[in-house]
Order: sequence, then structure tokens, then C-alpha cells
Amino acid sequence: MTEQPNLNEVFDMMVSGVYIATADDGEIKAGCTVVWVSRCSFDPPMVAVFIAPERFSHDVVKRAKHFCLNVIGENHFELAKSFGLASSRDTDKYTGVSFEKAKTGAPVLNDACAYLDCEVVETYTTGDHTCFVGRVVAAERLSPEKPLKYRHSDYYPEEEQEAESKAESRN
Ligand SMILES: Cc1cc2nc3c(=O)[nH]c(=O)nc-3n(C[C@H](O)[C@H](O)[C@H](O)COP(=O)(O)O)c2cc1C
Repeated sequence: MTEQPNLNEVFDMMVSGVYIATADDGEIKAGCTVVWVSRCSFDPPMVAVFIAPERFSHDVVKRAKHFCLNVIGENHFELAKSFGLASSRDTDKYTGVSFEKAKTGAPVLNDACAYLDCEVVETYTTGDHTCFVGRVVAAERLSPEKPLKYRHSDYYPEEEQEAESKAESRN
């Protein structure tokens, strides 16, 4: 990548929520934490989620042709970590996690504060990620909890420390 020293600092100023994108292709259930999410159409209601091809969840979403965006609340940081810092290739993320099936068949996590259940209508390659555009087929608020806001250092504290020590050594 082109060296742009201020890029991460500025990206950190782009506020976003925290979601767990889930899918079930009929044989395999997948789920990974995502923050690269956007609304992209009023009518029909559509949202886009950006998932890297190397994620286990990527091909499950591709095969299932659906995804459910589970909105994570501020009391469920640990859930966001467990779906975001490990892969389903190595662990069963659904152990001890209660869920139901959304209209598309994707898992709706009972601890989510809301969800958007989507059918994939378009897929694009965007640099090193795939953009899955989904038409919302069902949506519900499940609890009064406020949505969790993303802060990079909450998940990757060692990168923060590294950046701080680099800055100190420059001074
Ligand atoms: C807070 C947070 C946000 C993330 N956002 C994204 C994202 O938007 N897109 C993506 O491809 N990966 C994202 N990831 C990385 C995946 O969640 C992570 O690689 C996960 O282990 C993939 O699981 P899987 O291999 O079971 O699909 C994020 C991770 C964290 C902790």
C-alpha cells in the first residue's frame, strides 16, 4: 500500500457501529464481526457489507446468497470480540450462543439489539474486499440497548502501543 502516514488516524475518525454478519448455507453456519457496513438504498431498502475473501464467512455468504447483520449493543463487546478475533476454521463460534433463524435462514443472535436480514442482490470486488449488497427482507429491534461504537484500539491494543512507542522514539 502507498505510504500515507495519517491514513489510519483519519480512518479512526470515521464513526461506525459494530455488527456480526451471519449466514447459513444449509450445511455450515458462519459469522464474523464487521464494521465496514453501509446503507445504500432507501427504496428498496438495501445495505452493503464488505468482507475479505480470506474470511471463512466470505464463501458461506456467497453460497447462501444472504447475510444477516446483527447489530451489537454496548453491553456485548465480548460477543463482538469472539466473532471478530477468531475464525470458524479454528473454533465453533456458536457454542453457548443462542440464536434463531431469520427469514433467509441466517442466524439472528438473541443477544443482538437489532438485525437486518438481507438477500444478496449484487456482489462487487472492491480492492481487497468483496462488497455484498443486500436487499433487506426483514428487520427488527430486539432490545432497548444502545449500539456499540467501534474503536480500533478496543480490539487491537497492541497496535496502539506500537504506534505510541514509534511516536515517542521520533520525539
Ligand atoms: C471490530 C472488528 C471489525 C471487523 N470488521 C471487518 C469487516 O468489516 N470486514 C472483514 O472482512 N473483516 C472484519 N473483521 C475481521 C473478521 O471479523 C475476522 O477476521 C474474523 O476472525 C473472521 O472470521 P471467519 O474466518 O470465521 O469468517 C473485523 C474484526 C473486528 C474485531
